[in-house]
Amino acid sequence: MEFSVKNGSVEKQRTGCLVVGVYEPRRLSSAAEQLDKLSDGYLSNLLRKGDLEGKAGQTLLLHSVPNVPADRILLVGCGKERELTERQYKQITQKSIQVLNETGTTEAVSFLTELHVKGRSAYWNVRFAIEAIQESQYSYNEFKSIKPETKRELRRVIFNVAHRKDLAEAERALKQGSAIALGVSAAKNVANCPPNVCNPAYLTKLATALAEQYETISTTIVDEKQMAELGMNAYLAVSRGSENPAYLSVIEYKNHPNPDAKPIVLVGKGLTFDSGGISIKPAEAMDEMKYDMGGAASVYGTMKALAEMNLPLNVIGVLAGCENMPDGNAYRPGDILTTMNGLTVEVLNTDAEGRLVLCDTLTYVERFEPEVVVDVATLTGACMIALGSHNSGLMSTHNTVAHDLLNAAEQADDKAWRLPLGEEYQEQLKSNFADLANIGGRLGGAITAGQFLSNFTKKYPWAHLDIAGTAWKSGAAKGATGRPVPLLSQYLINKASI
Ligand code: BES
Ligand code: MN
Ligand code: ZN
Repeated sequence: MEFSVKNGSVEKQRTGCLVVGVYEPRRLSSAAEQLDKLSDGYLSNLLRKGDLEGKAGQTLLLHSVPNVPADRILLVGCGKERELTERQYKQITQKSIQVLNETGTTEAVSFLTELHVKGRSAYWNVRFAIEAIQESQYSYNEFKSIKPETKRELRRVIFNVAHRKDLAEAERALKQGSAIALGVSAAKNVANCPPNVCNPAYLTKLATALAEQYETISTTIVDEKQMAELGMNAYLAVSRGSENPAYLSVIEYKNHPNPDAKPIVLVGKGLTFDSGGISIKPAEAMDEMKYDMGGAASVYGTMKALAEMNLPLNVIGVLAGCENMPDGNAYRPGDILTTMNGLTVEVLNTDAEGRLVLCDTLTYVERFEPEVVVDVATLTGACMIALGSHNSGLMSTHNTVAHDLLNAAEQADDKAWRLPLGEEYQEQLKSNFADLANIGGRLGGAITAGQFLSNFTKKYPWAHLDIAGTAWKSGAAKGATGRPVPLLSQYLINKASI
């Protein structure tokens, strides 16, 4: 689908369809009001007859409205004017596209971007419209021999903004919204890909392809031999039970006016399948452990969005690819591993593998002298229990980093909620035989996992995002969400504009 923005008057648009809002109860938005005048009260007449109350998501398609040059008008219920939230705005936008797709129109001009969403500007309306539309148009059919038929006449949507002075911001929203939507769908594609195809080597191919696609990006791969030389024994221990070798993909984006500027480093957990290893998981929904590389997928998607936006930053995205399998050669409960930074870890559960892969990766990235490191991981079931599937869990030893990320989450409408860290939690990680145990007991499981990681991040400001609940959806609508690409992209946009 093609998008553009403009500032035109609703009466003059010669197009397949005008999309305008109606609030509850039967109240015309300003664009609808103008059309009503032009058509001598055609719209208000219809509303009076009770054809549209204005409830959120209601629609009414009109043809050949008197005096209106556009072929059609789509009236869209927006709910109560004062209660128009981001969520509702996205839903009515998606609904209108769904209805438009069922008409014969190839082009539409939407005036929904003129609506007032609490606390949001034209920039956000345009950006959220693009993100929401791409979200609703997404499907993953790579492995279906018969691709589901999608009748999609609609090819072009033009978003109208109310004021000429909003155009520049709307153009920026168009560019950034399209880049983020592209990053989200790239992340979804990787994450939805089955684990017999998407293995650690597959992640390296994607990372390498980015370098071919963008001049600002160069990619290097760290293989198991190099990991062994570096002493990344915790990472390697997790990989040992798998026939698919582990790879770390390092995606370097260099576009800061000062080439020596310290990089922002994003680290993604890339367990292309997590069976639990010897501490094997129960069979139910185990297929969903293909999504245990959701962190890496989101880092990949964010690097793509970043390169599309061409932000003036230095950013390094690291995909920590690995597979956790049971095997005669697999690591076991009781094993003591010496990590890259020298700390020893007693393995009490081989299913707490993410922190083992990440701890060595977090030590590895010290070499970049990062300005800040953010790791993203489907780390704990406990985080899903704590926050459900709406908020990602945020943990950080640095208040400014935490605030910047929470702020970006709020702005991007990709929610996150902070959980604490601290020495009390560190005590739960005590081992009788090593410096640390890899699990901290049932209580505060998301936090003890974050706390574990904090032992390896002392050389730089750091935050951890636990996306176990947000990276994918289960059930009938099973599929990757592409989160937290919007959050991370927004964090980078903000970094670029200070
Ligand atoms: N990848 C899982 C976490 C997970 C589980 C994410 C279910 C989403 C849904 C992680 O590697 C894991 O298995 N964590 C264990 C840790 C435990 C053994 C301390 C968990 O959460 O059960
Ligand atoms: Mn696990
Ligand atoms: Zn895992």
